[in-house]
Amino acid sequence: MSKILLTGGAGYIGTHIAVCAQAAGHECILLDNFSNSDCGVLVNLGKIIGSQPVCITGDVRDSGLVAEVIARHGINAVIHLAGLKSVEESVSNPELYFDNNVEGTRSLLAGMEMAGIFRLVFSSSATVYGEPEYLPLDEEHPIRSVNPYADSKIKVEKLLANKCEKDERWQVACLRYFNPVGSHPSGLLGDNPKALRANLMPMIARVLTGKREFLEIYGNDYDTPDGTCLRDYIHIMDLAEGHINTLNFLDENSGCTAINLGTGNGVSVLDLVRTFEQVIGGEIPLRMAPRRPGDVPACYANCDKAKALMNWEATRNLATMCESTWEWCKRIES
Ligand SMILES: NC(=O)c1ccc[n+]([C@@H]2O[C@H](COP(=O)([O-])OP(=O)(O)OC[C@H]3O[C@@H](n4cnc5c(N)ncnc54)[C@H](O)[C@@H]3O)[C@@H](O)[C@H]2O)c1
Repeated sequence: MSKILLTGGAGYIGTHIAVCAQAAGHECILLDNFSNSDCGVLVNLGKIIGSQPVCITGDVRDSGLVAEVIARHGINAVIHLAGLKSVEESVSNPELYFDNNVEGTRSLLAGMEMAGIFRLVFSSSATVYGEPEYLPLDEEHPIRSVNPYADSKIKVEKLLANKCEKDERWQVACLRYFNPVGSHPSGLLGDNPKALRANLMPMIARVLTGKREFLEIYGNDYDTPDGTCLRDYIHIMDLAEGHINTLNFLDENSGCTAINLGTGNGVSVLDLVRTFEQVIGGEIPLRMAPRRPGDVPACYANCDKAKALMNWEATRNLATMCESTWEWCKRIES
């Protein structure tokens, strides 16, 4: 059994990891500054795991606090999710993204070193690949910064690789998430409805909950089967379970390993919308809009490494992703 510190644990991905970790027999302590989450989520998390989760209000940029929490709770692994994730916000405020995401990780590492633990799973992103040179994207694909958010992930990955090169005690995995969507099947947890994000699923959720009249599809003239962009949507529960496999992998492996977490399927915007319509038994009002700058036509993962190294692969399909999102949408509206 591991005692895991989940930084950013009150967020979308962290709460789902807390559920999967408990199911696998691990104990989680959450650390969050609630800059993009609400402490109310802890009540719902408690309903699923059967007890109130331990959550410390604090910032990863406080290395003394990190060291103290690790020592006090006997933590032996950290899953580092605390970070800001809006591409748009990162363009308007790059310093904030550098400070919170890069300097935040530097402080976290200092806190871990003070406390004498060296096992870390980092939430990276497929955005580090930039515009794909080939598909599906494997972990050997070149890394390219396309915006300050991507830049912050690349800088952290480099920081972690350097740490591991200099000190063989470090056991680090950089998980490159593709497009996490969906919710816990109870509908009690899900993506933060307060955070305005330009991603497709949050946009659909806004239409379904009446906060937007219609869904805009940015570009239907791409060189793809139906002209809309292809993305690799992965169910949040599959993604969360991947972290448990990663911890098992790190038990026996040191150094810094980058691993994709996706499904390997390129799903078009229209495929996703049509599947959603089947699930809700109704139509989602659509409008075609011009392409958005920066959107690549297609982006999907090669997930062979995750399967080979840690025997993990995604198992949930698109309909399950839509159903669970729908459960979450109904709950936040009620
Ligand atoms: N959701 C996605 O689509 C996606 C895709 C790729 C990578 N990621 C990465 O995964 C991680 C988690 O994403 P999420 O979707 O759960 O986001 P989220 O915003 O729901 O959760 C992040 C949590 O971190 C907290 N936080 C932020 N800065 C902090 C700090 N300095 N100290 C303490 N807490 C802090 C926030 O309050 C929030 O609760 C992020 O690092 C994100 O960049 C997310």
